[in-house]
Amino acid sequence: MVRRTKKKGRRGQAVARTGELAHGTTKKFLLRCRGKAVEAVLLNYEGNIYAYVNRCCHIPISMDWVDNQFFTEDKRYLICANHGATYEPATGECVWGPCFGAFLQGIPLEISGGKILAFCPDEEEKKRGGA
Ligand code: FES
Repeated sequence: MVRRTKKKGRRGQAVARTGELAHGTTKKFLLRCRGKAVEAVLLNYEGNIYAYVNRCCHIPISMDWVDNQFFTEDKRYLICANHGATYEPATGECVWGPCFGAFLQGIPLEISGGKILAFCPDEEEKKRGGA
């Protein structure tokens, strides 16, 4: 299942095939939004697909020191390698660490023709931290 939050009238960018990611795995991608490249991460958590901007809520930098490593060892949470902020994969909420209670910025997704399409998040949603 993909978190369906597509915005009408926007064009999606194919970032993966359906079934490409297994539980606890991630795939980074670049999304072009308003003329800028936004680094994001697609992930499978318990069979559901989510995507977030790869930018920690503590300090706005990438969360993976080791490229494409976002999940904790037990695959239960996403973790920022910088100072250990720990996030719920399904919501992007920080549940432990320096940005407790903040949310990763979600990337709207949709499935079409066996592909997962990603859409640029809204600027307003960015300010709220949701998708
Ligand atoms: S930059 Fe992510 S926890 Fe500090």
